Amino acid sequence: MPSITSSAPAKIILFGEHAVVYGRPAIAVPVTQVKAKVSVTANIKGNDVVLQAPAIGLDCPLSEVDPRQPMRVAILAVAASLGVAHIPACTVRITSSIPVASGLGSGAAVSVALIRAFSHFLGRALPDEKVNELAFEVEKIHHGAPSGIDNTVIVYNKPIYFVAGKPILRLKAGRAFTIVIGDTGEASPTIEAVAAVRQGWQKDKDHFEALFDSAGALADAARTAIEAGGVELLGPLMDANHGVLAKMGVSSAALDRLVLAARRAGALGAKLSGGGRGGNMIALASPKNAENIAAALMDTGAAGTIVTTIES
Ligand code: MEV
Repeated sequence: MPSITSSAPAKIILFGEHAVVYGRPAIAVPVTQVKAKVSVTANIKGNDVVLQAPAIGLDCPLSEVDPRQPMRVAILAVAASLGVAHIPACTVRITSSIPVASGLGSGAAVSVALIRAFSHFLGRALPDEKVNELAFEVEKIHHGAPSGIDNTVIVYNKPIYFVAGKPILRLKAGRAFTIVIGDTGEASPTIEAVAAVRQGWQKDKDHFEALFDSAGALADAARTAIEAGGVELLGPLMDANHGVLAKMGVSSAALDRLVLAARRAGALGAKLSGGGRGGNMIALASPKNAENIAAALMDTGAAGTIVTTIES
Protein backbone atom coordinates (compact mmCIF):
# COMPACT_ATOMS: atom_id res chain seq x y z
CA MET A 1 0.00 0.00 0.00
CA PRO A 2 1.43 3.42 -0.87
CA SER A 3 2.37 5.80 1.95
CA ILE A 4 0.52 9.00 2.52
CA THR A 5 3.00 11.80 2.99
CA SER A 6 2.79 15.43 3.94
CA SER A 7 5.43 18.05 4.59
CA ALA A 8 5.42 21.47 6.25
CA PRO A 9 7.91 24.35 6.13
CA ALA A 10 9.82 26.11 8.89
CA LYS A 11 9.09 29.73 9.81
CA ILE A 12 10.80 32.87 11.03
CA ILE A 13 9.33 35.72 13.01
CA LEU A 14 10.25 38.99 11.30
CA PHE A 15 8.81 41.20 14.05
CA GLY A 16 7.02 40.93 17.38
CA GLU A 17 7.97 37.59 18.99
CA HIS A 18 7.12 37.36 22.70
CA ALA A 19 5.02 40.55 22.57
CA VAL A 20 2.60 38.52 20.40
CA VAL A 21 1.94 36.24 23.39
CA TYR A 22 0.60 39.37 25.16
CA GLY A 23 -1.80 40.41 22.40
CA ARG A 24 0.50 42.60 20.30
CA PRO A 25 0.85 42.12 16.52
CA ALA A 26 3.68 40.15 14.95
CA ILE A 27 4.84 39.26 11.45
CA ALA A 28 5.96 35.78 10.38
CA VAL A 29 6.94 34.17 7.08
CA PRO A 30 7.39 30.54 6.04
CA VAL A 31 10.85 29.19 5.21
CA THR A 32 10.47 26.46 2.62
CA GLN A 33 14.16 25.51 2.31
CA VAL A 34 13.79 23.21 5.32
CA LYS A 35 10.84 20.95 6.08
CA ALA A 36 9.25 18.43 8.40
CA LYS A 37 8.00 15.34 6.59
CA VAL A 38 5.54 12.69 7.78
CA SER A 39 4.58 9.45 6.06
CA VAL A 40 1.83 7.09 7.17
CA THR A 41 1.82 3.53 5.83
CA ALA A 42 -0.82 0.90 6.61
CA ASN A 43 0.53 -2.26 8.29
CA ILE A 44 -1.42 -5.11 6.74
CA LYS A 45 0.08 -7.69 9.11
CA GLY A 46 0.51 -5.79 12.40
CA ASN A 47 -1.97 -4.54 15.01
CA ASP A 48 -0.16 -1.50 16.31
CA VAL A 49 0.20 2.11 15.39
CA VAL A 50 4.01 2.45 15.32
CA LEU A 51 5.63 5.83 15.76
CA GLN A 52 9.08 6.30 14.23
CA ALA A 53 11.10 9.48 14.72
CA PRO A 54 14.72 8.46 14.10
CA ALA A 55 16.09 11.90 15.08
CA ILE A 56 14.98 11.34 18.69
CA GLY A 57 15.47 7.58 18.71
CA LEU A 58 11.75 6.82 18.78
CA ASP A 59 10.53 3.57 17.20
CA CYS A 60 7.76 1.92 19.21
CA PRO A 61 4.01 1.37 19.44
CA LEU A 62 2.04 4.52 20.13
CA SER A 63 0.64 2.99 23.33
CA GLU A 64 4.18 2.90 24.78
CA VAL A 65 4.92 6.56 23.99
CA ASP A 66 4.68 9.15 26.81
CA PRO A 67 1.05 10.43 26.83
CA ARG A 68 2.36 14.03 26.76
CA GLN A 69 4.58 13.39 23.72
CA PRO A 70 3.41 16.01 21.17
CA MET A 71 3.35 13.58 18.21
CA ARG A 72 1.21 11.11 20.15
CA VAL A 73 -1.09 13.94 21.22
CA ALA A 74 -1.42 15.06 17.58
CA ILE A 75 -2.31 11.56 16.32
CA LEU A 76 -4.94 11.02 19.02
CA ALA A 77 -6.36 14.51 18.47
CA VAL A 78 -6.86 13.76 14.76
CA ALA A 79 -8.55 10.42 15.53
CA ALA A 80 -10.83 12.06 18.13
CA SER A 81 -11.72 14.91 15.83
CA LEU A 82 -12.70 12.46 13.06
CA GLY A 83 -14.59 10.23 15.51
CA VAL A 84 -12.26 7.25 14.82
CA ALA A 85 -12.29 5.00 17.91
CA HIS A 86 -10.01 2.29 16.51
CA ILE A 87 -6.99 3.49 14.56
CA PRO A 88 -5.97 1.00 11.84
CA ALA A 89 -2.48 -0.51 12.20
CA CYS A 90 0.09 1.72 10.55
CA THR A 91 3.60 3.13 10.75
CA VAL A 92 3.95 6.88 11.18
CA ARG A 93 7.44 8.07 10.25
CA ILE A 94 8.59 11.58 11.06
CA THR A 95 11.74 13.17 9.66
CA SER A 96 12.75 16.82 9.55
CA SER A 97 15.53 19.01 8.21
CA ILE A 98 14.46 21.88 10.51
CA PRO A 99 16.88 22.45 13.39
CA VAL A 100 15.14 21.63 16.71
CA ALA A 101 14.67 24.18 19.52
CA SER A 102 16.10 26.94 17.37
CA GLY A 103 13.22 29.34 16.77
CA LEU A 104 12.33 27.95 13.34
CA GLY A 105 9.05 26.32 14.37
CA SER A 106 10.19 22.69 14.07
CA GLY A 107 7.56 21.48 16.56
CA ALA A 108 4.72 23.25 14.76
CA ALA A 109 5.94 22.01 11.37
CA VAL A 110 5.95 18.39 12.61
CA SER A 111 2.43 18.85 14.06
CA VAL A 112 1.04 20.34 10.85
CA ALA A 113 2.58 17.67 8.57
CA LEU A 114 1.48 14.94 10.97
CA ILE A 115 -2.11 16.18 11.32
CA ARG A 116 -2.45 16.49 7.54
CA ALA A 117 -0.92 13.10 6.72
CA PHE A 118 -2.79 11.28 9.47
CA SER A 119 -6.22 12.76 8.74
CA HIS A 120 -5.69 11.89 5.07
CA PHE A 121 -4.74 8.33 6.12
CA LEU A 122 -7.95 8.07 8.16
CA GLY A 123 -9.91 8.99 5.05
CA ARG A 124 -10.83 12.62 5.66
CA ALA A 125 -8.17 15.27 5.02
CA LEU A 126 -8.93 18.07 7.46
CA PRO A 127 -9.39 21.65 6.22
CA ASP A 128 -6.69 24.21 7.06
CA GLU A 129 -8.76 25.81 9.85
CA LYS A 130 -9.08 22.48 11.66
CA VAL A 131 -5.42 21.58 11.07
CA ASN A 132 -4.51 24.95 12.59
CA GLU A 133 -6.81 24.43 15.58
CA LEU A 134 -5.35 20.98 16.37
CA ALA A 135 -1.75 22.13 15.79
CA PHE A 136 -2.37 25.00 18.22
CA GLU A 137 -3.43 22.50 20.90
CA VAL A 138 -0.16 20.60 20.39
CA GLU A 139 1.79 23.89 20.48
CA LYS A 140 0.64 24.29 24.09
CA ILE A 141 2.92 21.35 24.94
CA HIS A 142 5.82 22.93 23.03
CA HIS A 143 5.44 26.56 24.16
CA GLY A 144 3.35 26.48 27.34
CA ALA A 145 1.32 29.58 26.45
CA PRO A 146 1.68 29.95 22.68
CA SER A 147 0.26 32.84 20.71
CA GLY A 148 -0.57 30.54 17.79
CA ILE A 149 1.63 32.41 15.30
CA ASP A 150 3.94 29.45 14.54
CA ASN A 151 1.22 26.95 13.66
CA THR A 152 -0.73 29.60 11.71
CA VAL A 153 2.12 30.72 9.43
CA ILE A 154 3.10 27.09 8.83
CA VAL A 155 -0.45 25.92 8.04
CA TYR A 156 -1.12 28.75 5.56
CA ASN A 157 2.47 28.79 4.22
CA LYS A 158 2.28 32.54 3.47
CA PRO A 159 3.58 35.71 5.17
CA ILE A 160 1.14 36.77 7.89
CA TYR A 161 0.40 39.71 10.15
CA PHE A 162 -0.88 38.03 13.29
CA VAL A 163 -2.75 39.15 16.38
CA ALA A 164 -3.87 36.32 18.67
CA GLY A 165 -7.60 35.75 18.50
CA LYS A 166 -8.10 38.00 15.47
CA PRO A 167 -8.71 36.92 11.85
CA ILE A 168 -5.45 35.99 10.09
CA LEU A 169 -4.19 38.67 7.74
CA ARG A 170 -2.05 37.57 4.81
CA LEU A 171 0.73 40.05 4.10
CA LYS A 172 1.52 40.89 0.52
CA ALA A 173 4.99 42.37 0.05
CA GLY A 174 5.02 45.37 -2.30
CA ARG A 175 8.58 44.39 -3.21
CA ALA A 176 10.50 41.14 -2.72
CA PHE A 177 13.15 41.11 0.00
CA THR A 178 15.89 38.74 1.09
CA ILE A 179 16.59 37.43 4.56
CA VAL A 180 19.70 35.56 5.73
CA ILE A 181 19.04 33.23 8.67
CA GLY A 182 21.96 32.39 10.96
CA ASP A 183 21.90 29.57 13.49
CA THR A 184 23.86 30.05 16.74
CA GLY A 185 23.87 26.26 17.10
CA GLU A 186 22.68 26.76 20.69
CA ALA A 187 19.44 24.87 21.30
CA SER A 188 16.90 26.93 23.21
CA PRO A 189 13.45 25.43 23.85
CA THR A 190 10.80 28.10 23.26
CA ILE A 191 8.85 26.97 26.31
CA GLU A 192 11.76 28.14 28.52
CA ALA A 193 12.14 31.50 26.76
CA VAL A 194 8.38 32.14 27.00
CA ALA A 195 8.46 31.18 30.71
CA ALA A 196 11.44 33.51 31.36
CA VAL A 197 9.62 36.45 29.77
CA ARG A 198 6.53 35.65 31.83
CA GLN A 199 8.63 35.73 35.00
CA GLY A 200 10.05 39.11 34.04
CA TRP A 201 6.56 40.41 33.24
CA GLN A 202 5.22 39.17 36.58
CA LYS A 203 8.02 40.98 38.42
CA ASP A 204 7.67 44.27 36.55
CA LYS A 205 4.48 44.48 34.51
CA ASP A 206 4.77 48.17 33.62
CA HIS A 207 8.27 47.73 32.18
CA PHE A 208 7.37 44.64 30.15
CA GLU A 209 4.07 46.06 28.92
CA ALA A 210 6.01 49.08 27.61
CA LEU A 211 8.46 46.72 25.84
CA PHE A 212 5.55 44.79 24.31
CA ASP A 213 4.00 48.07 23.14
CA SER A 214 7.29 49.05 21.47
CA ALA A 215 7.55 45.68 19.72
CA GLY A 216 3.92 45.93 18.60
CA ALA A 217 4.49 49.43 17.19
CA LEU A 218 7.55 48.15 15.30
CA ALA A 219 5.48 45.29 13.84
CA ASP A 220 2.82 47.76 12.71
CA ALA A 221 5.42 50.04 11.10
CA ALA A 222 6.99 47.00 9.42
CA ARG A 223 3.64 45.89 8.04
CA THR A 224 3.15 49.29 6.40
CA ALA A 225 6.69 49.22 5.00
CA ILE A 226 6.38 45.65 3.66
CA GLU A 227 3.05 46.34 1.96
CA ALA A 228 4.34 49.58 0.45
CA GLY A 229 7.55 47.92 -0.80
CA GLY A 230 9.64 50.14 1.51
CA VAL A 231 12.19 47.40 2.09
CA GLU A 232 14.97 49.80 3.18
CA LEU A 233 12.79 50.89 6.11
CA LEU A 234 12.72 47.37 7.51
CA GLY A 235 16.40 47.25 8.51
CA PRO A 236 16.24 49.94 11.22
CA LEU A 237 12.95 48.44 12.46
CA MET A 238 14.67 45.04 12.83
CA ASP A 239 17.58 46.62 14.71
CA ALA A 240 15.13 48.36 17.04
CA ASN A 241 13.19 45.12 17.60
CA HIS A 242 16.43 43.33 18.51
CA GLY A 243 17.10 46.03 21.11
CA VAL A 244 13.63 45.59 22.61
CA LEU A 245 14.05 41.79 22.71
CA ALA A 246 17.43 42.19 24.41
CA LYS A 247 15.69 44.32 27.08
CA MET A 248 13.20 41.47 27.54
CA GLY A 249 16.24 39.31 28.33
CA VAL A 250 15.92 36.89 25.41
CA SER A 251 19.08 37.71 23.45
CA SER A 252 22.36 35.91 24.16
CA ALA A 253 26.06 36.50 23.57
CA ALA A 254 26.00 34.24 20.49
CA LEU A 255 22.91 35.95 19.06
CA ASP A 256 24.42 39.41 19.64
CA ARG A 257 27.67 38.31 17.97
CA LEU A 258 25.87 37.11 14.85
CA VAL A 259 23.62 40.18 14.71
CA LEU A 260 26.70 42.42 14.89
CA ALA A 261 28.59 40.35 12.30
CA ALA A 262 25.65 40.59 9.89
CA ARG A 263 25.45 44.38 10.29
CA ARG A 264 29.23 44.70 9.77
CA ALA A 265 28.93 42.61 6.60
CA GLY A 266 26.43 45.11 5.23
CA ALA A 267 23.05 43.79 6.42
CA LEU A 268 20.40 46.51 6.39
CA GLY A 269 19.23 45.32 9.81
CA ALA A 270 19.37 42.23 12.02
CA LYS A 271 17.64 40.69 15.01
CA LEU A 272 17.09 37.44 16.83
CA SER A 273 14.06 35.49 15.62
CA GLY A 274 11.68 33.27 17.59
CA GLY A 275 12.04 32.46 21.28
CA GLY A 276 15.67 33.63 21.49
CA ARG A 277 18.26 32.81 24.23
CA GLY A 278 19.96 30.85 21.42
CA GLY A 279 18.51 29.51 18.20
CA ASN A 280 18.41 31.66 15.09
CA MET A 281 18.87 35.28 14.09
CA ILE A 282 17.84 36.94 10.83
CA ALA A 283 19.41 39.69 8.73
CA LEU A 284 17.92 41.79 5.95
CA ALA A 285 20.18 41.64 2.90
CA SER A 286 20.31 43.01 -0.59
CA PRO A 287 20.12 40.01 -2.95
CA LYS A 288 23.71 40.72 -4.07
CA ASN A 289 25.10 40.79 -0.52
CA ALA A 290 23.20 37.82 0.93
CA GLU A 291 25.92 35.22 0.34
CA ASN A 292 28.54 37.59 1.72
CA ILE A 293 26.51 38.04 4.93
CA ALA A 294 25.97 34.28 5.17
CA ALA A 295 29.76 33.78 4.88
CA ALA A 296 30.40 36.40 7.58
CA LEU A 297 27.96 34.58 9.89
CA MET A 298 29.76 31.27 9.32
CA ASP A 299 33.11 32.99 10.01
CA THR A 300 31.62 34.25 13.29
CA GLY A 301 30.70 30.73 14.41
CA ALA A 302 27.21 30.17 12.97
CA ALA A 303 26.27 26.50 12.79
CA GLY A 304 24.43 27.06 9.52
CA THR A 305 22.74 29.65 7.35
CA ILE A 306 19.74 29.79 5.04
CA VAL A 307 19.04 32.49 2.48
CA THR A 308 15.35 33.00 1.79
CA THR A 309 13.36 35.47 -0.29
CA ILE A 310 9.95 36.85 0.59
CA GLU A 311 8.34 37.23 -2.80
CA SER A 312 6.18 40.18 -3.81
C1 MEV B 1 7.99 31.65 18.88
O1 MEV B 1 8.23 31.45 17.52
C2 MEV B 1 7.32 32.97 19.08
C3 MEV B 1 7.02 33.33 20.53
O2 MEV B 1 6.41 34.62 20.50
C4 MEV B 1 6.10 32.33 21.19
C5 MEV B 1 4.69 32.35 20.62
O3 MEV B 1 4.26 33.33 20.03
O4 MEV B 1 3.99 31.34 20.83
C6 MEV B 1 8.30 33.43 21.36
